[in-house]
Amino acid sequence: MSSDSMSPAGKQFTQVIYTERLILRRLCATDAEYLLPILSNPDSMQWLNDTVRRRTIQGTQEWIDERLARPGLDTFLVELLSTTQATTTDHQAGKDVNQEGSFREVIGVIGSPDIPRIGYIFHAKYFGKGYATEALKAYMNSYWNRVPPVSSGESGSFDFACAATDVDNTPSRRLLEKCGFSLQRIGKESYDNPSKGGLRDDAVYAIFRPGTHEDGASLLATDEWKDMSVRVTTRTG
Ligand SMILES: CC(C)(COP(=O)(O)OP(=O)(O)OC[C@H]1O[C@@H](n2cnc3c(N)ncnc32)[C@H](O)[C@@H]1OP(=O)(O)O)[C@@H](O)C(=O)NCCC(=O)NCCS
Repeated sequence: MSSDSMSPAGKQFTQVIYTERLILRRLCATDAEYLLPILSNPDSMQWLNDTVRRRTIQGTQEWIDERLARPGLDTFLVELLSTTQATTTDHQAGKDVNQEGSFREVIGVIGSPDIPRIGYIFHAKYFGKGYATEALKAYMNSYWNRVPPVSSGESGSFDFACAATDVDNTPSRRLLEKCGFSLQRIGKESYDNPSKGGLRDDAVYAIFRPGTHEDGASLLATDEWKDMSVRVTTRTG
């Protein structure tokens, strides 16, 4: 279930997506305090290539600001629907505690940093509980409504979404496969991860709009898809 409003351009703009246990709400400029615990968690960040600047609130704010400036951004914070009773530490950390003394916990971030690329990072405390599967399935269901089909001829139209993940990132690969993504190729030494010793291979996955042919597959056969932001910009120009 999702809650939509109209963007200034008049397109449907999903604000909130509900699942059985989660709320996905659109990333906004004031979310640094919620994201910092995730972006500064070593286990959550081990498969990403730039960790250092995100260990501070300022670094997290820069991460958000840089994303909010992207035309193809479609990113959501993932919150638990159930509330957590606040401890003294939570109060000290400035958590958004309500009158009943509880707060909604942000457990991850998911979506597209640049449509049609998909990414996600959850707090390690919540790994292995099925939350990422629940969130990604719900996100992808609504993705097809927000991204126009290629047949529409509209700007920013795509009939696929793609994701690249380290070949050894088993939870991420398993998550993608559970959510209907299929492996397109293995990229050799295709991204830099200093914390894992430098250049690493990644596995490139894609999922295609239900009822369409796999038109994006040939594009994914090269590294060209990584520059997809250029394509989106070009199409809207
Ligand atoms: C990738 C990530 C979102 C998966 O989150 P999660 O909480 O484990 O996801 P789920 O609980 O929904 O589980 C997804 C699948 O991965 C499997 N899995 C989770 N942890 C695993 C592990 N350590 N080893 C093997 N499989 C694992 C789960 O069992 C499940 O598959 P199954 O249902 O067939 O058993 C999470 O590990 C994460 O945020 N990692 C750090 C960020 C990251 O790597 N992002 C991708 C960068 S490209």
